[in-house]
Amino acid sequence: MTSIDYESKIPNNVELSSDKRLQRALEHWLPKYLDWWHAMGPTDFETKDVYLRTAVGVDAEGWAQFGHVKMPDYRWGIFLAEPEKGRKIGFGDHLGEDAWQQVPGEYRNWLRRIIVTQADTEPASVEQQRLLGHTAPSMYDLRNLFQVNVEEGRHLWAMVYILHTYFGKDGREEAEELLERRSGNPDHPRILGTFNEPCESWLDYFCFTMFTDRDGKFQLLSLAESGFDPLARTCRFMLTEEAHHMFVGQTGVGRVVQRTAELMKAHPGRSPREFGALDLPTLQKYINFWSSSSTDLYGAEISSNSANFFGSSLKGRAWEMKKHTEHTALDQVKELDVFENGRFRKEQVPLRNALNEVLREEFIEDNQKGIEYWNRILAEQGIAERLRLPHRRFNRQIGMYAGHRFDPDGNLLTEEQWQAKRDEWLPSLEDRSYVKSLMKPVTEPGKMAGWIAPPPKGINGQPLDYEYVKG
Ligand SMILES: [Fe+2]
Ligand SMILES: [Fe+2]
Repeated sequence: MTSIDYESKIPNNVELSSDKRLQRALEHWLPKYLDWWHAMGPTDFETKDVYLRTAVGVDAEGWAQFGHVKMPDYRWGIFLAEPEKGRKIGFGDHLGEDAWQQVPGEYRNWLRRIIVTQADTEPASVEQQRLLGHTAPSMYDLRNLFQVNVEEGRHLWAMVYILHTYFGKDGREEAEELLERRSGNPDHPRILGTFNEPCESWLDYFCFTMFTDRDGKFQLLSLAESGFDPLARTCRFMLTEEAHHMFVGQTGVGRVVQRTAELMKAHPGRSPREFGALDLPTLQKYINFWSSSSTDLYGAEISSNSANFFGSSLKGRAWEMKKHTEHTALDQVKELDVFENGRFRKEQVPLRNALNEVLREEFIEDNQKGIEYWNRILAEQGIAERLRLPHRRFNRQIGMYAGHRFDPDGNLLTEEQWQAKRDEWLPSLEDRSYVKSLMKPVTEPGKMAGWIAPPPKGINGQPLDYEYVKG
């Protein structure tokens, strides 16, 4: 295997030093990236020493090392999973052909669009999270936030490497623009809706890493199957990092649930808000918001793009090779509930046109497992209430349900009915200001804010009261 070259300015396992032109282009991009990081990253914590993991290999075991690092000194680099010898394209019209090592000319624009759309989410999330360090509920959480931030930065590097290496001048231009768009900026926003939503509290952050990073997981899974081999290998390695982001979300919300349940048990009939914690209805509203917004990220239910991307062997299904036996998706249909002119009907949609929905279903199923994990915490505390995932029709801005109102069970509502109930289903201004009022930093090692339970263990075998962030 190719080991990681840490001698170069840009750590990599792609033998960057053997391609001087590319190396120069990326070294030219590096200071611009750092300028962006200094302006839009967790700026106020640049002098802190953070206990971060850094990739030292790309194999499944032992790929990371831990140590205190200042974030601007983090070794962002280019790491691709090992090539698979003689890899063949696994799906679509090019099924069985040799995987592409160069961009297939006829699909250049589609491929670039797929890569840029994925790439844009990486810096966007860093921007969304940039102020959260000031209100971290513990040093452990602060460290996890920064770990996620530096890895999203590295994911940007991973995508920019592909743009620079395989797309020439327009790839370099796209790479520049990735540093110019800004999350939530009305004139120059990030590409996808969820990545322009403010992430102003740690409850938003935990829901974001639970649901929005999970969208990332499924997008990466489908791109890890790509016939364009460099993209597939890049995404495979990114998936190993992504797992930690979802862990942060899953367990972060879980610890909130734990604390809330403990208070409900200790003080029956009273609201956890009386004790400076979160009540389940508020938590449910945040779940409703972030899960529905992230559900939009899969695009329209019936889509010619999905057919094009799959047909051209650029974007597969999640676990295409492991889970599916038929890989052309031709002469098959998927039955969808189609909502049109205010009515539902069943429609047999050609499978390739329904693949956004196929991926969305995988996502929903995975989310449901997370909800069940939280409900087990409630059950263990003897609490009867349960959390739930809203119906996929709820609060959608994209696809056939956009522009219509549905309740969390998926029932059609009039605008009036929706407005009357809106604040019971989505965070109200009052909820948001309550949640924000809880966001007070806790900086002493091992201490936790009162609205969240401690995690069962620390990071990388370190104790919970370890000094994860120093200086
Ligand atoms: Fe990422
Ligand atoms: Fe992520």
